[in-house]
Amino acid sequence: MAADPLSLIRAQGRVPRHVAVIMDGNGRWASGRGLPRHAGHWEGMKAVREAVEGACEAGVEILTLFAFSTENWKRPQSEIDALMQLLGAYAESEHEELAGHGVEVRVLGEVSRLDSAARAAVELMENATRGGAVLRLNLMVSYGGREEIVRAVRRLAEQVRRRRLDPEAIGEDTVERMLFTHGLPDPDLLVRTSGELRISNFLLWQLAYTEFHVAPVLWPDFRREDLFAAILDYQRRERRFGRVSTR
Ligand code: IPE
Ligand code: IPE
Ligand code: MG
Repeated sequence: MAADPLSLIRAQGRVPRHVAVIMDGNGRWASGRGLPRHAGHWEGMKAVREAVEGACEAGVEILTLFAFSTENWKRPQSEIDALMQLLGAYAESEHEELAGHGVEVRVLGEVSRLDSAARAAVELMENATRGGAVLRLNLMVSYGGREEIVRAVRRLAEQVRRRRLDPEAIGEDTVERMLFTHGLPDPDLLVRTSGELRISNFLLWQLAYTEFHVAPVLWPDFRREDLFAAILDYQRRERRFGRVSTR
């Protein structure tokens, strides 16, 4: 009998510390069933649960989920409203269980653009799960990679203007400290669902040497086995970081 994927992952040993996911395909999942797009977003909550539990089981330390992009603000208001409500519902229904499993949630992005109910949901989730040591879960909401870099540049320029920073002293580490993900290692593995081969403005700085895995499955159909398959694919890769092969 073939070994189960978790045993294979553990036997291989090189588990990605940080996995990032572009959760895509909710709209197509819904329209394929003759349902409104928001039905796909709601169904996607089940897949978030699967990804979080799967990450804990596999020994991933950081899971970063792209939930809502800067550009998604250009979608119809009714869809934006549904997504914001979903954030509230997720916080409400999951915060206790997440805390119980040792999952620490952080919501990263331009959170000031969220309405007050969504911001309250963010606070609830972050406060309830603070200190969780099993998995750090980053929910990227109102997040754009370019906007994050612009924000970092603006903050550094401000420090230079106040003479607190010498431009000559700016290095990669200085920029990294200004990012929403500051202090975290870069993702080892990026998973995108729905078969799209695009980065869609996600983690532009952080993905410099990340391994990509594209799965055909639409996000609402994503299950932990899909995460395990992505990890096994990652474990077969040789990461060279611009150097020559050491194999
Ligand atoms: C991903 O699914 C969720 C968000 C971007 C909020 P989509 O809503 O992009 O679904 P498709 O790509 O249109 O199928
Ligand atoms: C990326 O998906 C954003 C999120 C998953 C939140 P999109 O569906 O918005 O990206 P495009 O438009 O297909 O590039
Ligand atoms: Mg999409």
